[in-house]
Amino acid sequence: MIKNWYSLFSENMKDFEGYSIGKIFKYLNNPEIISLAGGLPSPDMFLKDEMRTISKKLLDENLEKIFQYTSVPGEKNLIDAIIYFLEKDNINVKDENILITSSGQHGLDLVGRLFLDPEDTIIIDRPTFAGAIVAFQMQCPKIVGVDIQEDGPDVESYRKKIEQLKKQDITPKFMYVVPDFQNPTGITISLKKREALLDLSYQYNIPIVEDSPYRDLRYTGETIPSIYSLDQQRKGNHVIGLYTFSKIFCPGIRVGFNIGPKEVIMKMSNIKGGNLLNTPKYNQDLCAAFLTEMNFDSHIKKCRNYYHEKLNIFLQTMEKYFPDEMGVTWTKPEGGLFLWVNVPEHIDTQELFYEAIKFKVAFVPGEVFYGENPSKNHMRINFSFATKEQLAEAVKRLSQCIKAQL
Ligand SMILES: Cc1ncc(COP(=O)(O)O)c(C=O)c1O
Repeated sequence: MIKNWYSLFSENMKDFEGYSIGKIFKYLNNPEIISLAGGLPSPDMFLKDEMRTISKKLLDENLEKIFQYTSVPGEKNLIDAIIYFLEKDNINVKDENILITSSGQHGLDLVGRLFLDPEDTIIIDRPTFAGAIVAFQMQCPKIVGVDIQEDGPDVESYRKKIEQLKKQDITPKFMYVVPDFQNPTGITISLKKREALLDLSYQYNIPIVEDSPYRDLRYTGETIPSIYSLDQQRKGNHVIGLYTFSKIFCPGIRVGFNIGPKEVIMKMSNIKGGNLLNTPKYNQDLCAAFLTEMNFDSHIKKCRNYYHEKLNIFLQTMEKYFPDEMGVTWTKPEGGLFLWVNVPEHIDTQELFYEAIKFKVAFVPGEVFYGENPSKNHMRINFSFATKEQLAEAVKRLSQCIKAQL
């Protein structure tokens, strides 16, 4: 009889604790709690009728194929639709540059598996997406974090860290960024900093992993070229792009795609063959129809208006219930689904979370968004899922909860 399963676990997995955000959801069972914690798009934006129609068509006309094993890299119809989708964003890729993934998290997992050996170094923002941290942590890298600024990464600090590492003969395997409306802060990287990151990437030969789930969800301001497209203009071939249908279509479908140099995509496809095999054809066909048959532009416009309105309600209520003397500040994103709230330094938001539950409101404590040395006085707020009325009420409850701590 095996008495100690732990002793049999691989070294990489022994101390791996999984996705930290997932652990707080068990506190949210009470329906009276207004949760601003998850990263959920609103089901109001699901294309319900269109999905019913396309599903029926797929089941009626193609049932035998959609429930069969299919190719590992992905379905041709979806790949073609993606090529056109990216062309509209000034990205020019061929089939060989695209791998269909079973969503963004899978895309991140493939990046970690492909590039990281234990003890390899990567550079990320402080804070950054917790799901990326957890995906990379499975390979036990050393994570170097650099504080993010209002307009994106602190590129000069990136440079200093890279120089410091160079003195120890270490070259980071990649830099990971979420340029548009970053999860968790809502911050967007300016054009100048996108170019500066590329300069760094070329100077030190470090690839950039650009994760773009929110790129289409811009509510104000001008679209900024993706780092991938800027790299293509400069003929660098230094960027790997990660995309998902989760936020603009629906997360339950679990489909996304990675783009990048042919040899990277081929290797990722080999890994996918080992860790997942094929992404369900049914789900891919729905995504292909989403891009080609579901009036994409008007859907995106609708999503933008809908989420913009929610963001405005949130920001306006924050102004009302968080006067300056409370010492609370927050980001004002131009898109996406999240914003970042900074509370006075003496408040630990992990502890505040349990107090907030008593006030029937929930957020994600900021510390899960740091790869190392977490900062404790922040919260991630999601404004896309709760109703408009709930959002206003949630801000009121948060304000009462934080006042009780001052
Ligand atoms: C920056 C970022 N990357 C990747 C993902 C993962 O997306 P998916 O739900 O498609 O796995 C998310 C989800 O919140 C995200 O915010």
